Amino acid sequence: MKVLLLGSGGREHALAWKINQSPHLEQLYIAPGNAGTMQIGTNVNLGLTDFSAIKKFALDMKIDLILVGPEQPLVDGLYDSLKSEDATQSIFVVGMSKEAAQLEGSKEYAKAFMMRHNIPTAGYQSFDSSQLSQGEQFLENLQAPFVLKADGLAAGKGVLIMDNLDEAKKSLREMLLENKFGEAGQKVVIEEFLHGIELSVFILTDGNDYLILPEAKDYKRIGDGDLGPNTGGMGSISPVPFADAEFMKKVEDQIIAPTVSGLKSENLSYQGFVFIGLMNVGGNPFVIEYNVRLGDPETESVIPRIKNDLLAIFSKMKEGKLKEVKMEIDNRIAATIMMVSGGYPDKYDKGKIIRGLENNNSSLIFHAATKMNENGDTLTDGGRVLAVTSLGNTLHEATQQSYKSIQDIQFEKAYFRKDIGKDLV
Ligand code: AMP
Ligand code: GLY
Repeated sequence: MKVLLLGSGGREHALAWKINQSPHLEQLYIAPGNAGTMQIGTNVNLGLTDFSAIKKFALDMKIDLILVGPEQPLVDGLYDSLKSEDATQSIFVVGMSKEAAQLEGSKEYAKAFMMRHNIPTAGYQSFDSSQLSQGEQFLENLQAPFVLKADGLAAGKGVLIMDNLDEAKKSLREMLLENKFGEAGQKVVIEEFLHGIELSVFILTDGNDYLILPEAKDYKRIGDGDLGPNTGGMGSISPVPFADAEFMKKVEDQIIAPTVSGLKSENLSYQGFVFIGLMNVGGNPFVIEYNVRLGDPETESVIPRIKNDLLAIFSKMKEGKLKEVKMEIDNRIAATIMMVSGGYPDKYDKGKIIRGLENNNSSLIFHAATKMNENGDTLTDGGRVLAVTSLGNTLHEATQQSYKSIQDIQFEKAYFRKDIGKDLV
């Protein structure tokens, strides 16, 4: 199989690493990729929203399968664009239609979908710029903390959680009338605050059947003890102790099954991953959000636990035989720690030389934002730089191994959280 994988982060390096182990693989291209993916496949310089370049490449290289890592190309309609042309129609796309991608692209769409299918989620209402006073009134009738969400994609920054009513009203005004989040914030979803522990659940579906992948916990804040600003994710652990069989049965019955039957009953074309961000509220799951892709850095601890051949699973999906797949999961615990650039998630420098990568053979090191210079040095190329994953028989063993491996890797002003997994002991 000739595969084109779109994306350039740790998620894509982990997927590339996994796909590269498949006996069905003929050629793996990653666009645009990073210094890690270029060691296992061929990086191609394609813009993720340049659909005509993607199509041309796919035709020239006789690509059989396109796996889309991030949400943007899907929300922008890459799937529909490929399916609408005779020449590219037969390429199997792990992704979904533009309409279905609205599950991530529009908070209001996702909420309305959950309502239609009786899927547990926080109570909400949405407001546009003509409804400021109704929005303020709605806030007055809620209890703090107040949760305000820009409807559209806002690079993970569109959710505000505020303790003070006046500040919440001010933010609502800024979003609706002063374009605080640009177009993404022209509609705002206000919802009840859910008290509980978060969990990331992943499924792969062909729109009929589904496979449940290992779940994970993501560490979103920059600082130890979950302090400081939100980031793209500072580490992840899989499996998650509180996601026991009883809880996961509720997740499957109340959330996963109705989500997939909802896609089907609404005729939404979906052959891809669903990432369900949920809150465990006193033992009951509530959906916080859907994403139409895998999570990052969750993928870096989820994928190494999957023993099945990914390309074999995708082939079954293509044939409509996903039901025949039996998931085989490594029972060990995976611990991923992110090494980030000093200053992230605010201002940081790029282009720092990364040393010591070759010393490692006890952990998996997935590149999240790296590039290679003319001398063959690996350089930092973003905020989240490397994801270091280890598998262990205990959580302690897995996290200790990742921390040990990090000691061998250096770049100027490298930072990482010291407490990943501690809350789960
Ligand atoms: P989202 O971008 O929807 O993932 O939201 C970002 C983060 O805000 C989530 O990961 C949660 O930690 C938090 N959050 C979102 N919605 C709620 C809610 N209704 N109650 C409590 N926390 C929430
Ligand atoms: N780790 C959260 C995300 O990928 O959105």
